[in-house]
Amino acid sequence: MVLKIGSILTSTFILFACSTPITNSNSKKKDVNTVVDAKALYTLHCEACHGMDGTKGISGAANLKVSKMTDLQIKNTIKNGNDKGMMPFKDIINSETEIDSLVSFVKSLRN
Ligand code: HEC
Repeated sequence: MVLKIGSILTSTFILFACSTPITNSNSKKKDVNTVVDAKALYTLHCEACHGMDGTKGISGAANLKVSKMTDLQIKNTIKNGNDKGMMPFKDIINSETEIDSLVSFVKSLRN
């Protein structure tokens, strides 16, 4: 009897051990990837002027913490640059997914 309970407990434990962490690590992995990608893109292409918190202001770069641009305006700025000829990233960042993730990242810098 004791042995039977023991083996039921063991198999329940094995079931839990197998199922739970797999779903967790899958969903975690997805989140981390989205965040890391946008951050990596930003670090690569934007940090030099805007800084990691958006306030560096190199070459007169706008303070992204206080920016009021809409998603579409940010998107257009990334794609076409601004009227000063800054940020022409059209040929460098060309996937919609990358641009969208940068838009979210830029907005996440706001207070
Ligand atoms: C060479 C320096 C430089 C780099 C690199 C750069 N920017 Fe800019 N950014 C600027 C300047 C300059 C402005 C415009 C400031 C102005 O017109 O008042 C600006 C403005 C902006 C604005 C408009 C904010 C507002 O409210 O007016 C956004 C959004 C923006 N940048 C996002 C980005 C993103 C995203 C990247 C990377 C893909 C990037 N920038 C890379 C210099 C840079």
